Order: sequence, then C-alpha cells, then structure tokens
Amino acid sequence: MKDFKVTPWEVSGSIDYEKLIKQFGTSRIDEKLTERLERTCGSLHPMLQRGFFFSHRDLNLILDDYEKGKGFFLYTGRKPSKGMHIGHMVPLTLTKWLQDKFKCNLYIEITDDEGFLHKRDYTWSDVQNAATENIADIAALGFDPDRTFIFKDSEYIKNMYPLLLRAAKKITGSTVKAVFGFDDSTNIGLSMYPAIQTIPSMFEKKRCLIPCAIDQDNYWRIQRDIAEGLGFHKTSAIHSRFLPPLQGVEGKMSSSAGAQTAILLTDDEKQVKKKINKYAFSGGKDTVEEHRKLGGDPTIDVPFQWLSIMFEGDDKKLAQIREDYTSGKILSGEMKGILIEKVNEFLVDHRTRKENAEVKKMMYSGKLAKKMWDTIHE
Ligand code: TYM
Repeated sequence: MKDFKVTPWEVSGSIDYEKLIKQFGTSRIDEKLTERLERTCGSLHPMLQRGFFFSHRDLNLILDDYEKGKGFFLYTGRKPSKGMHIGHMVPLTLTKWLQDKFKCNLYIEITDDEGFLHKRDYTWSDVQNAATENIADIAALGFDPDRTFIFKDSEYIKNMYPLLLRAAKKITGSTVKAVFGFDDSTNIGLSMYPAIQTIPSMFEKKRCLIPCAIDQDNYWRIQRDIAEGLGFHKTSAIHSRFLPPLQGVEGKMSSSAGAQTAILLTDDEKQVKKKINKYAFSGGKDTVEEHRKLGGDPTIDVPFQWLSIMFEGDDKKLAQIREDYTSGKILSGEMKGILIEKVNEFLVDHRTRKENAEVKKMMYSGKLAKKMWDTIHE
C-alpha cells in the first residue's frame, strides 16, 4: 500500500478510506444507517446511496433527535480562494439536500482569516475578492434564505469572540501540533485558527451536523474534546471521499494544484471540453481495436468516476454506460463526450442560478442572528 496523507491543508497519494476511518476514529456509514436515512428522508441522495459519503460521527444521534422532535442544525464552510471547483460542490450539494429534507437552519462559515493566514502569497484584498465571488457561488445552490446564515469570519468575529475565548482556553499548543502538524515555523494566527472553525458548531443548543469531505475531520475531533465542557453537544459530521483530479483517481481535485487538474465553476464550454479531452485520465485501451476487444476499466476512468459521483443521477443510465464501456462498445473519447455535456449543462445552470441568487438575504440573516446571539453569549 502506497503512502497517503489527508490533512485540511494537504491531501496526497492513494487514499485508503477504510484506513482513514480507523485512523480518525470515525464510523462507516453502513447499510443499517443508510436504510434508516432512507426511511426518514423518503429517498436517498445518489451520493449517499452510492457510498460517496462513507463515514460519519454520531449521525444516528442526529436522527434520534430529529425523530424526537428536538431537531438539529447544519453547518458547513469554505476557505475563500480564486478558483472554486466542482469538488467544492460535493458537500454543498448534500447540505442543500439535507436542508430540503429536514427543513433545518444552516450556518455557512467563510473563512477569510484561514485563507489569508494559510496562503503566503495571498493579500487581504485577494482574499476579500475571492470571498465575495465564492459567497455568490455558494448562494447559487439555492439554500432556503429564511433558514440560511452565511457569514465571513473577519466580520462576524466580534460576535463569536466570547465563546471563541472560552474554547481557545481549552485547546493547547501540543494538541494543535499533534492534530495539524504545526511546528515552530507555523504563524501564530494559524495556531489559533482551529478554535475558530469549531465555534459555528455551537451556534445553537441543538445537535449540529457538518457535511464536509474527510479532510476537515481534524477540527471536529478537537470540537468533540471541548464542546461538552462548554455546555454544548459534541458535533456530528458526515464525510465524503474526494472528487478526484482530472489526472487520475488518486488524491483530490484542488485548485492550488494547477488549473489543469480541476474544472472551475468559471470555466466556459470550450475550456471544459479542452480540459477533459486533454487531461482526463482514461481507463480505455491504447488502440481502438484493443479497446473494442478488451473494453475499458471504469474503476480508474476519471470521466466515469465523475459521472458516478456527481453528474449521472440515474442508476439505470449509469449502469448502461458502465456496461458499454467495459464491453468496449463505448470508446474513451465517447465517454469523455458524455461527461463534457453533463459538466457544461451543470455549469450553465450554475451560472444562471448564481445571477439570481438571494445573496443579501442569506448574509447575516437577521432572524437566525438573534437566536444565535442568545446562545453563544449565555
Ligand atoms: P475548503 O474551502 O478547502 O473546502 C470546502 C469544502 O469542500 C470540500 N472539498 C472537497 N470535497 C470533495 N472533493 C474535493 N476534491 C474537495 N476539495 C475540497 C472540503 O472538505 C470542504 O468541506 N477549513 C475549511 C472551511 C470550513 C469548513 C467548515 C468546511 C470552515 N468551516 C465546516 C466544512 C465544514 C476549508 O478550508 O474548506
């Protein structure tokens, strides 16, 4: 087994997700839990049904509280950077689905502080411009404006500060060194940052459910160590795998790894076509004759993987594509063509929704702010 690394700031190598469950001490989303979710929600999102969300912390307690009528709330976030890519849509898409199903409040943290502290070459104005753009992209998912509170850390921090100090007092330097690999060269802003990311999980006295990819779990481990001591619940979380980069099914799509590895939300139709045709790793054979005879391998074919993760929600159609590819009926170029069409459809829709998004209504939504203020200043 090759080495791999998963931290909030670095994901590399061939990720063994089963091993991560053990390493991080999370739980697998097993058949029983999947069935329970389906019973409660009346249906399952394909990302749940196909196991792309594979791990969790205390999701069963969230469902218990929901069934008892206590309810719960959702929390997710985004570190602003210039290129928001389709991988970032994974947790947001499930968050939207969960909000629709459970009709619950949602807090979205825009970590301009983290973006600035983490990226050496980012100026404050770079981060602010990216934040404005990213917020519009997030609002485009169409969250319920009456139940959604989007906030930027640098602006909202004064409201979080008392609780932040209570949390920070409980987290030692050796904990963040061990959990995040900080060392003496880490800037001190970043040393404080993990405490900040735990705070929105305590915006209400109800249980919190955090949809994210597994790289963010380090924060929740810290939150779960301190929350009860502060009078809040340990947070729950639901973790996805990573949408792979164009170059192959290992690692994660990341905008900092170079524009050729990711499809950005701003890519136009020509760019999408060019990137997928030129860079997407194919599980096809070298020649047409060989491919027709032996077929392609969908398990390593990036276009097929993207279709199954995000872009083909219809199980029957997906099974047909898999069969036709494996038998050699569909060639690599044709598989890429199917994906190009789907991605472009998605991006055209996304841009229309972005233009019509109710950004202002969701930023610092007054109704939720008042309730939160009382909770976090208790
Ligand atoms: P950020 O901005 O790096 O990523 C935002 C969310 O996208 C997920 N993600 C991916 N999911 C699937 N495939 C990929 N290739 C991929 N790349 C990124 C991340 O796991 C994350 O859920 N520190 C956070 C911001 C944050 C946050 C939160 C995220 C603050 N509070 C609460 C989740 C939940 C960050 O840097 O995310």
